[in-house]
Amino acid sequence: SQEPIIFSGIQPTGVPHLGNYLGALREWVKLQDEAKPGTKLLFSIVDLHALTVPQDAAQLRQWRREAFATLLAVGLDPKRSTVFYQSQSKLQLPEDTTLEQAEARAQLRLGLFSYPVLQAADILVHRATHVPVGEDQRQHLEFSRYTANSFNHLYGPIFPIPEAHISPAKRVMSLKEPTSKMSKSHADEKSRIILTDPPSVIQKKIKVALTDSQPNITYDPVQRPGVSNLIEILSHFEGQTCPEIAAEFDGASLRALKEHVASRITHHLTEIRERYVSIMDDKTGYLDSIAQQGAAAAQANANVTMRKVRDAMGL
Ligand code: ADP
Ligand code: NA
Repeated sequence: SQEPIIFSGIQPTGVPHLGNYLGALREWVKLQDEAKPGTKLLFSIVDLHALTVPQDAAQLRQWRREAFATLLAVGLDPKRSTVFYQSQSKLQLPEDTTLEQAEARAQLRLGLFSYPVLQAADILVHRATHVPVGEDQRQHLEFSRYTANSFNHLYGPIFPIPEAHISPAKRVMSLKEPTSKMSKSHADEKSRIILTDPPSVIQKKIKVALTDSQPNITYDPVQRPGVSNLIEILSHFEGQTCPEIAAEFDGASLRALKEHVASRITHHLTEIRERYVSIMDDKTGYLDSIAQQGAAAAQANANVTMRKVRDAMGL
C-alpha cells in the first residue's frame, strides 16, 4: 500500500492573497500538522508555469522569493515539508548537455500553451496521491488523473491516481466584484487582501468592499454576494457556519460586520506578516538554504519515479 504523498503548487505572483491562503495555503499547513508519520509533503513555487506569460526577470525573481517566504511564514515547516522552486528541481538526465538544453527549450515552449500538461508532469513525477487546491483547480487535476491512468494501463501501476483535496474555503470572492473569485489578475488592488497587508490597509479594503444597500445582515450568496462573502470569510476564521454568523449579526449594522471582519483578518495575519518580514530581512541566506534543501529533496523524490518509469518501459 502506498504512503500518502501530498503535493501542491502556487504561482510566483508575489505575496499570495487571502483566497490563496484560505483556499490552499492554510490547508497545506493543516495537512502538514496532521500528517501521519510516513506522509510526504511537497510544496512547489511553480516558477516554470509562470513563464506561460512573458515575465520581467527582476520582477519574477522578486515574486518567486516573496511567494517562498510566504509559504514559510504561514507555517510550512521545512523539517516536515519540502518547499522548493520548481525550476531548481531538475530531473536527472543523461550527462548530455544537448539533451538538457533541448529539454529546457521544450519546457519553455510547452509552457506557452500547456499549463495543465506542466501541472500533470509535476503531480505525476512526485507520485502525488493528494493534491490540495482550491475549487478552481479541480478541472485541471482531471488531466493528471487521465494521464496517470493511461500510463498505468500500458505499463502497470506506477502512478497513484491523484485525488483533489478541496479546502472548505472553496472560493473566496473578490471584494470589489463578489460574483467572481478573488484573484491576483484583477486590476483593482482593493479587490483582494494580500497576506502582508498592514492592519490599516486591511481595514480600508474591507470598509470599501462592495456590498448592497439593504440595512440588515443576512446570508444569501445569490441575492447578496458581497455581504455573504464577508460572512464566509469570517466563518473560515471563526469556525462557525455562515447562518450562525448571520444570526449573530441580526440587527447589527453592515459597518459593525465589516469592522469585525477586518479585526479578525488583522488578528490572524499579524503573526504571518511578522514572520514574513523577518524571513525577507534575513541576511544569513536562510531562505536560499531552505530552497536548496527543498530542491534536492524534490529531485530525489522525482528520480525515484523516473527510475520506476524507465524500468516499467524497459529503458
Ligand atoms: P491565482 O488563482 O490568484 O492566480 P494560483 O493559481 O497560484 O493563484 O492558485 C494557488 C492556489 O490558490 C490554488 O490551489 C488555487 O485553487 C487557490 N486559489 C486561488 N484563488 C482562490 C480563491 N479566490 N479562493 C479559493 N482558492 C483560491
Ligand atoms: Na488559480
